[in-house]
Amino acid sequence: MRAVDLIEKKKNGGEHTQEEINFLINGYMNGLVEDYQMSAWLMAVCFKGLTDAETAYLTKSFVDSGEVLDFSEIALHVADKHSTGGVGDKVTLVLAPILASLGIYTAKLSGRGLGFTGGTIDKLESIPNFRCELSKDEFFNQIKNVHVAISSQSPNLTPADGKIYVLRDVTATVDNKSLICASVVSKKIASGATSIVLDVKFGSGAFIKTKEEALELAELMIKTGKLLNRKIDVVISSMEQPLGYNIGNSLEVIESIEFLKGFYGDDLYEVTLALLCKTLKNCGFAYDMTDAKKMMDTVIKDGSALNKFKEIITAQGGNPDVIRDYSLFEIGKNKIEVKALEGGYISKLDAFDVAHCAKLLGAGRDKKSDKIDYGAGAILKKKISDAVNQGETVMELYFNDVDKNKLDDAVAIARNSFKITKIKVDKPVLIF
Ligand code: URA
Repeated sequence: MRAVDLIEKKKNGGEHTQEEINFLINGYMNGLVEDYQMSAWLMAVCFKGLTDAETAYLTKSFVDSGEVLDFSEIALHVADKHSTGGVGDKVTLVLAPILASLGIYTAKLSGRGLGFTGGTIDKLESIPNFRCELSKDEFFNQIKNVHVAISSQSPNLTPADGKIYVLRDVTATVDNKSLICASVVSKKIASGATSIVLDVKFGSGAFIKTKEEALELAELMIKTGKLLNRKIDVVISSMEQPLGYNIGNSLEVIESIEFLKGFYGDDLYEVTLALLCKTLKNCGFAYDMTDAKKMMDTVIKDGSALNKFKEIITAQGGNPDVIRDYSLFEIGKNKIEVKALEGGYISKLDAFDVAHCAKLLGAGRDKKSDKIDYGAGAILKKKISDAVNQGETVMELYFNDVDKNKLDDAVAIARNSFKITKIKVDKPVLIF
């Protein structure tokens, strides 16, 4: 077999066997298939697609590139969740400690920023000294002792997804349903979770733009799970405007800490609760949303969820003082306030534009080797449906050393990211 023949086959719309997919993935892992060949194959997949069977082969190949954890000796239920990617999506940072403080073992395998979206791993690494690449044993032992760990792909856990994820990020090959499905589902299988709940996002700030396509992706993920003997639950949610108020790595961790202290916006609360409710039901801890809400409110109010977050930070080498002292985070030393030119109501707040702006300010990568600026990003002062006066600040942009052209572009994009109308529009529906 040769990689070039398999690229040709996919370019011509051919269907791969499991052996062919294994050849490409294993070859990429052991250096026989080069970056440029994998990039070409990924792009062919974007144009020609993968069948459901090929998607399951790719998912299995990613899983088989590492090991699959088994927690049966320590817990009956182990939870994991994943989002297909969004802007300001910091649900993992609040949900993982909430679940663990409720007594649910939580094994979370996450990724870095992808395309224009942020990633949990980059966000956590904005905490000084926080370590995300845990070995299989470190991950296992932390879950045993702390009840929760959040790790990136590692040499033991879906390393093939880890390597291809980085490549997809910089080759415009992210937004293909089969590639998203294989990437997400493989991590959830490898984590050894018995409850897998996925948040499939659609809209301007997601890789999937319409509700119909989100349904297709959800069905593909459920089907792939079934073919690989795992039950998968899905929530479908809108990503037209960013989730929560802060966008950018350090800023999102700060918003998550505030959430766990009891200060939160409605939308982040709603998505977190929806995912919590499905997980609690799967684990036999709650019957319905009312139960789930009571449990979530209790662990936020009594401080146990915040304390669990502190335990995660400590266990993974980070500085837990960030919980009380936000000055320990890197925050952009420069700030620009984007103001409303007229009064009225915010009728549009485009999540993609806000993400694009944050990326130009330094919050994301253009090349594999790029370093991100943890302190770059935006804080929204208004969301859709909010009233705004002329001259009032709609968003604040934070940045450090940004090239003048990029900064001008970022500010122009930020100014165009929102619309103001005289008539109040309703808050958008979030969960479907
Ligand atoms: N999250 C992932 O882990 N992979 C994707 O492809 C998209 C979101």
